[in-house]
Amino acid sequence: MSEYLSYLLTWRASAPEGRISHQDAGTWNDEQAAWAKVVEFAHSQNQKIGIQLAHAGRKASTLAPFIDPAAIADEASGGWPNDTVGPSALPYSDGFPLPKELTKAEIKGIIKAFVNAAKRAMKAGFDVIEIHGAHGFLVTEFLSPTSNKRTDEYGGSFENRIRFLVELVDALRAVMPPTMPLFCRERAGSRRDTVKLAGVLAEHGVDLMDISSSGNHPAQRVQAISSEPGYQVPFAAAVKEALGNKIHVAAVGRIHTTTLAESILNKGQADVILVGRMFLKNPSLVWTFAEELGVELHHSSQLGWPFKGRTRAPTNTPVSEKKQQVVTWGWYAYSQGKLSGFYL
Ligand SMILES: Cc1cc2nc3c(=O)[nH]c(=O)nc-3n(C[C@H](O)[C@H](O)[C@H](O)COP(=O)(O)O)c2cc1C
Repeated sequence: MSEYLSYLLTWRASAPEGRISHQDAGTWNDEQAAWAKVVEFAHSQNQKIGIQLAHAGRKASTLAPFIDPAAIADEASGGWPNDTVGPSALPYSDGFPLPKELTKAEIKGIIKAFVNAAKRAMKAGFDVIEIHGAHGFLVTEFLSPTSNKRTDEYGGSFENRIRFLVELVDALRAVMPPTMPLFCRERAGSRRDTVKLAGVLAEHGVDLMDISSSGNHPAQRVQAISSEPGYQVPFAAAVKEALGNKIHVAAVGRIHTTTLAESILNKGQADVILVGRMFLKNPSLVWTFAEELGVELHHSSQLGWPFKGRTRAPTNTPVSEKKQQVVTWGWYAYSQGKLSGFYL
């Protein structure tokens, strides 16, 4: 199954006010070119590496999630509660900052910020870009009629509510090489709308729709901890059933065993399996899964030799492998570009 193992670095804010908390990483200026070293390390280990670009919209300016994701950061704590933005001037919930309604010029400005972030990501050498369009952040806020009350061409009908995302996809596709995969993490409310959106995204050059939760209202339960294994798979399966191979589909959410992952792939419910929290528990999860599935892995030399034995290089061979440490919460693997199942 998996020949390449790769990382997907998630949540890189495309603009400073688009961070969730002031402790987020970002890609909005050239000083953040340090990502090139991370990419170089992944490539030196024969891995592919992707980056997720995001904007938190009205859910910005909280404390870091491991402190309290619902606590607003005031200026003294590094926040920007008076400068959050959204499609409409509606807070996420009581106690959250009142966002400013974006003007049309500001919407174009955010799209430009994503494009600039994508250019920096490509300059750093990333292999994949993913738009974070889920979890109640800016893209979701435009998609949902509960947070988008606009009366211009960005609000109202389904076609209007998806316009921001579609313009964003078009703008990224215009600067990305056609061979570079563009992913989109998404879910548009109902199953019907999710399928409809997937069809539009496919037409606009999105290669993979990564189906997660929308998280746009505090009353919605993000089932991340308490729910059943594979709780979001039915949404992925609905897209797969309706669109077949028009777009690759990824499923995520408590898919923590090889048995479940393989069964989802074998039933054709998704093309790709994404895994998050299990990598926090076991950073070598791909290795564990590969052993369970009887799959041969490429290992970095530093990790592989105690298990596979040493191969003696000629004494004049330069040592090119890097030894930097990469800190990331997830990684994925995929099969020679065919996306027959990779792990985040
Ligand atoms: C600590 C942590 C950080 C996360 N960060 C992101 C993120 O930056 N972007 C994102 O799309 N999802 C993020 N997620 C959600 C995961 O990608 C995943 O969708 C979720 O945890 C469910 O999958 P799992 O059951 O395999 O963990 C994060 C989850 C955790 C636990």
